[in-house]
Amino acid sequence: MHFEIKDSVFWVGKIDWELRKFHGEEYSAQRGSSYNSYLIKDEKTVLIDTVWAPFADEFIEQLSETVDLNSIDYIVANHGEIDHSGALAKLLERIPGKPVYCTANAVKSLKGHYHQDWNFQVVKTGHRLPLGQRELIFVEAPMLHWPDSMFCYLTKSEILFSNDAFGQHYATESIYNDLADPSELWEECIKYYANILTPFNSFVKKKIEEVVSLNLPVSMICPSHGVIWRDDPMQIVRKYQQWASDYADNQFTLIYDTMWNSTRRIAEAIADGINAADPSIKLKIHNAARSDKTAIITDIFRSKGVMVGSPTINRGILSAVGGILEQIRGLSFKKKKAASFSSYGWSGEASAIINDLLAKSGFEPLAQGPRILWYPDDNALKQCFDYGKALVKAIN
Ligand code: FEO
Repeated sequence: MHFEIKDSVFWVGKIDWELRKFHGEEYSAQRGSSYNSYLIKDEKTVLIDTVWAPFADEFIEQLSETVDLNSIDYIVANHGEIDHSGALAKLLERIPGKPVYCTANAVKSLKGHYHQDWNFQVVKTGHRLPLGQRELIFVEAPMLHWPDSMFCYLTKSEILFSNDAFGQHYATESIYNDLADPSELWEECIKYYANILTPFNSFVKKKIEEVVSLNLPVSMICPSHGVIWRDDPMQIVRKYQQWASDYADNQFTLIYDTMWNSTRRIAEAIADGINAADPSIKLKIHNAARSDKTAIITDIFRSKGVMVGSPTINRGILSAVGGILEQIRGLSFKKKKAASFSSYGWSGEASAIINDLLAKSGFEPLAQGPRILWYPDDNALKQCFDYGKALVKAIN
């Protein structure tokens, strides 16, 4: 259902209630998502972004009910990723030759995906596109979150179209931030930031400083996923400034996998020790093979320290622990502390392997965690508990 959000600017996107996994199987979208596309009607008509390819036919059919497709003068592709460009090929079959405004890098990603020589119009920061009464001002936003990403700003209406930045994978009929359930909305915002934007913290900070220094009034922020920020739109910008500054709550996360429960018992005994020494620390415990990995990453993002544990198997570590460590490596967390723990029966390489991976991922090392031979007895569990108690000083 298309609707006007302000001054002849229309939401023409698609709410995807069924989505549960995004980026293949990497990102859990338990609350679905939306692909927000916007139509600006002025003396010129502009379409900003499209939707994911499975919804291309539906998108074009509904768009043609809102506007004569031939009257679209310009298309803006703020980002080449498929969830926003997926309907572009079919749309351009209907209205061939229409100019597509995008960054130089988006020409690469769009050509790379669709192998078409569309009428690309490359823009840079500060370029303006007159629409009649208003103008669109383009702002390149490389690494928020791809090199091709771009924002655009509609003068007079004071709307920032920010593409992925400030978005959430969150399907809701209450498309405005002030109508959404705040706990759901903020949970989806931090999950999105933690899992998608963490590696680009420094770019996020610089881009926000740059946009703020332009002194453009912002009455609305329209991202390409989730809610539109119309009530105090800068609140999400302030939150991003906080998150981009190597964010951590008073939280500690333990992640492990286990074969015969030894490693699980160690994790729980360490957590008991931490809790006994400082109950104010929020503790999160995840079996990497069973917990949702998007939730694990969000908990690491919120933590000042983490411990990762595995038994030794085949001189290595369990594959679920290896998998989450690979995700952690790619996200380049900074200013967080970490240590390993492990159980073993014979050779016992797990802790050294985990320590090596944590160090390569940029974590500051904590004292080596327990390495317990076979199943932990009362003495071993006491050792784990005492380690947890002692850890509190190091993580505070
Ligand atoms: Fe929502 Fe980077 O695509």
